[in-house]
Amino acid sequence: MGTLKKITSRLTSGKTDRMRPSQDLVPTTAKQPSSGLMRRLRDLGLKRGAVSLFFRRILKKQSTRSIIEMGRTSISKSRSGISKATEVTGQELSSRAKQTARSIKHHSKPENLNKDYRKLLHLTQEMGYDRAIEKLFFVPAKGFVPLDELTIDSPNRQFGHNYHPIHRLSFNWAMAQIPDQLRDFTFVDYGAGRGRALILAALHPFRKIIGVEFAKELHDDANMNIAQFPRSLMKCRDVDCLLMDAVDFPIPESKGVFLFNDSFDREVLETVLARISSSYRTNPRRMYLIFVRPLNAAVLDSLMERTVIFEPIYHSQSEKIRMQILSPDQVQIFRTLI
Ligand SMILES: C[S@@+](CC[C@H](N)C(=O)[O-])C[C@H]1O[C@@H](n2cnc3c(N)ncnc32)[C@H](O)[C@@H]1O
Repeated sequence: MGTLKKITSRLTSGKTDRMRPSQDLVPTTAKQPSSGLMRRLRDLGLKRGAVSLFFRRILKKQSTRSIIEMGRTSISKSRSGISKATEVTGQELSSRAKQTARSIKHHSKPENLNKDYRKLLHLTQEMGYDRAIEKLFFVPAKGFVPLDELTIDSPNRQFGHNYHPIHRLSFNWAMAQIPDQLRDFTFVDYGAGRGRALILAALHPFRKIIGVEFAKELHDDANMNIAQFPRSLMKCRDVDCLLMDAVDFPIPESKGVFLFNDSFDREVLETVLARISSSYRTNPRRMYLIFVRPLNAAVLDSLMERTVIFEPIYHSQSEKIRMQILSPDQVQIFRTLI
């Protein structure tokens, strides 16, 4: 009990120091400086009740003061808390608003609008038109696989592009540009991945279909997909995927349709084009080269011009517009002069 309270309670109960038993009183009075004060107050002629009242008031005032003090402290603390919170939220809000504004600015640039639109087309193709064929695959061909995760034994690994499958729409549109009887043609997919293009080609009456893939895991998946695909749907059943580098693939003697779906860099493409051109010179024949998502239209045009044996196939205006609106990928087709 605090000293003031002790004094007050004694005063209220009517006991004084003199009235207390000695053993209780002596050490207490000796220790309490306030009792001297009380005595002095009484000496001044104040009555017991008045002293008690005086102390009660002091105590009351004291607690009132401390309550007020506490109130003030908590108000000032909560004020600083509120201002701190406003400061933090304000900062967050403004940084978020800035981020959103930056993102709107970025996405509204014409080149980015086009990119976003193509992305949307990729998604809609993957979720819509591609699903019909995807359902028949043993190992799903859809998705993206970076080459770093794969087993590749080739110095051209550094020039290879990551795996993602061709869209059915792009494939069918490219095939629609070939007027010849496919029975005489061998189809080659340079960088066959999990074999989606090989299976799509097998729905056409090609003489033979060959995939060339240097990543072991993808090559195995492709052969699994070929083996498990319903034979009744295949117009060409001579389908195979070879585990090898595109630069080592011997060009078939027959007429050919060669697919390059975003397969590799210019360094590898130049070597492959040189092999195809040399094979053509010894045995001139019809060949089609289909480029899906080509490196860069201008670079490709100049590479193809240098071969001297290929010319581009120009699409009709209506076809161009249709593809611009619907196709997520750019497709360029070249054919040999004969
Ligand atoms: C974009 S994917 C195309 C997949 C498949 N052609 C399709 O359309 O579904 C490109 C593929 O080329 C393969 N590739 C890259 N460079 C290669 C090379 N030098 N030889 C063989 N395959 C290669 C990659 O492993 C990858 O699977």
